Order: sequence, then structure tokens, then C-alpha cells
Amino acid sequence: MADQHSGALRAELLDKLPGIEERLRAVEIRGGIATVILAPPGGSGGEDEQAIRLGVEEALMALEGVTRVRVIVESERKPAPQKSRPVQASGKPPARLIIAVASGKGGVGKSTVAANLAGACVKQGLRTGLVDADVFGPSAPRLFGLTDAPGLRKTDSGIEPLRAHGVKLVSTGFLVGDREPVVWRGPMVTGAIRQFLTEVDWDGGDGPLDVLLIDMPPGTGDAQLAIAQGIPISGAVIVSTPQTVALDDARKAMALFERTEIPVLGMIENMSFFLCPHCGEGSEIFGRGGARAEAELMGIPFLGEIPLHPSLREASDAGRLVALEDGPLARAFAGAAVAMLRTAETANRPAPEIVFED
Ligand SMILES: Nc1ncnc2c1ncn2[C@@H]1O[C@H](COP(=O)(O)OP(=O)(O)OP(=O)(O)O)[C@@H](O)[C@H]1O
Ligand SMILES: [Mg+2]
Repeated sequence: MADQHSGALRAELLDKLPGIEERLRAVEIRGGIATVILAPPGGSGGEDEQAIRLGVEEALMALEGVTRVRVIVESERKPAPQKSRPVQASGKPPARLIIAVASGKGGVGKSTVAANLAGACVKQGLRTGLVDADVFGPSAPRLFGLTDAPGLRKTDSGIEPLRAHGVKLVSTGFLVGDREPVVWRGPMVTGAIRQFLTEVDWDGGDGPLDVLLIDMPPGTGDAQLAIAQGIPISGAVIVSTPQTVALDDARKAMALFERTEIPVLGMIENMSFFLCPHCGEGSEIFGRGGARAEAELMGIPFLGEIPLHPSLREASDAGRLVALEDGPLARAFAGAAVAMLRTAETANRPAPEIVFED
């Protein structure tokens, strides 16, 4: 959801810093946070990077509605073409199961569901990680109560994930305010996500992850396709609300994964019915069951339904995971997580060879 047209930010930057035009790769604003992506400095080497960062920050912070500015400078190095699955420095894949949580439509509760599925996995005693792949609108800092966390640190064993509620986490949201962000290599989005998979020390001495969830950015465009093609996803879970409009987008998301030969593990219906916090009765305001019918039609498993409940939004805003508490919401997430893990284990197919183009 763009709070302000990104074009206005771009115009402001070009007005205040005309020299920046050829390096300006992308400007986006989501939730008051402006993200600016710059190409590497040119050959002259004479540019003062720090001054440029400060200039960008100053120009955008002056605009109404901008609360923070992140400046990300791409690295000059392109990744070497790879023909194999990304592995960690240790030579092992980052997790036994890598599961993408996706939806075509934005705002259906993908990040909320991904975070709570992670919580449900922790509750089952699984070593669990989460990659927040939404570069422009990261949710993990808020959902896990880490908005004031220090940036990601690099140690001898790799980038150290943050940890909250037993989940190991990486997010570009943790680069906010960090003057020396982890350098991104190669194509912007896949580069970052790939780096999260290969250079993060997921093990950290606790043993390899059982499950790594990837909270996908909304939409079914090039960025999503690049992630789906670029990393060895074991399967994808599609989150949808029951309305037809959201289901149309869910179909697009399914098509995206099918195109990249990633098995769709099933569908989760979020905001399935309104669970009244006062009387405990359910009301089917969006026509409950649309996603279940759609999943049947598509021949994919239906993994569960999550009610619409104010306490889920409150918990999410307060950085708590309801999946780790008791009650109907926790039970709903536990059921969906078990169904997801079961289908992921059975989908257990040999990983395809992934070829990267230079
Ligand atoms: N079942 C639910 N009950 C109540 N509130 C919910 C529920 N699911 C999600 N929400 C709320 O809806 C809003 C959107 O959720 P969320 O950010 O998870 O969506 P998203 O699909 O990840 O969005 P985006 O497309 O922007 O990434 C949040 O405020 C969240 O707390
Ligand atoms: Mg999200």
C-alpha cells in the first residue's frame, strides 16, 4: 500500500540531488518507510557515499508521511553463475524444508499467517526460521516485536539471524537505520533473499533448521518469480481470504509456482469468519469456505481456516504470536501448520537444478 505516490519521492530526489539520476534504481514507500536503491558508485570512485546517503535521507525525511528512510547500495560484484542449490558455507542447505507463504493479493494476512505458522512449528519443537522476503514492506520487525532491534551482524560464521519467540529471523527491516548494511550482491531482490539463505548462519550451533518459512512479497510479478526461481523452495502455501476477488489473485499465485515447478502444498483461508471476542460466536461475513471450495477445484489440499479476530491484529501489532498462546486462534494455526508440514514431507521431491543467468 503506497501511502504516498513513489513517483513523488523520485521527483523530490531528482530535484534535490540531480546527480543521482543515473544511480537511482528504485524508490518505494510503504508504511511511512521510504526505501531507495542505488546502483554501485561509478568508476571515478570520487563520490562521497556517506554524503549521498545523508542527502537522500534529508530530502525524503522533509516530505510529509515519511518516517524513515533506508538507502541500499547494490554491490558491484555479480554473483558467479551457479548451477546448484544455494548452500551455506558449511555445504548444507539452510533447512530441511523451505516453504514459501504467498498470496497474489496484498493485505490478506500472509505475513501474520507466516509468522504464526512459524510459532506453531516452534511449539511442535521444530527448529524454525523465517525469511521476510518483502524487501519494500518488511513485516517481521513488527510481528516479532523487534522494531528497535539492532541491525544484522556478521560474524565469522556468517550473518547472525535475530531471534524472537524461538524463531530465527532475517528481514531487510533489520537494515533500517543501519549505516553499514549487509551488502547486497547481484540482482536486487533475489540477491538479498539468496544472501539470506546462503550467508546467514541459520545453524548457529543449535543444529540445522527443520523448517524455513519465506514470507513472500504480495503480487505475482517479476520479483516473486525471481524468488521462486532463485531458491530451492520445497513447496508453497497460498493464503487467501474467502472473497472471490482475493481468490482470483490466489489463482495467479498458484500459477506462478506451477510455472516454476514448485509444488503448491495447499491453501489457508484467512479471515475465514469473524470470531466474536464477546460471545465466541462465528459470523461468516466474507462467505466462509470460498478458499476450501477453490482448493478442491484446483485439486490442492485445504490446510485450514484462520478466523478474523481482533486479538490477532492486536497481538501482531504488539509483537506477540498468538500461535504460542492458548485458544481458538492458536489451535487454528497449529492445525494449519501440521497439515502444511505433512504435505511438505510427502511432496518431498528431488530438488531441481537451478541455473542462474549472469
Ligand atoms: N485473521 C485475522 N484477524 C484479524 N486481523 C488480521 C487477521 N489476519 C491479518 N490481520 C491483520 O490484517 C493486516 C494485514 O495483515 P498482513 O500484514 O499479515 O497482510 P499481508 O498479506 O502480509 O500484507 P502485505 O500484502 O502488505 O504483505 C494486519 O493489520 C494484521 O494484523
Ligand atoms: Mg506481508
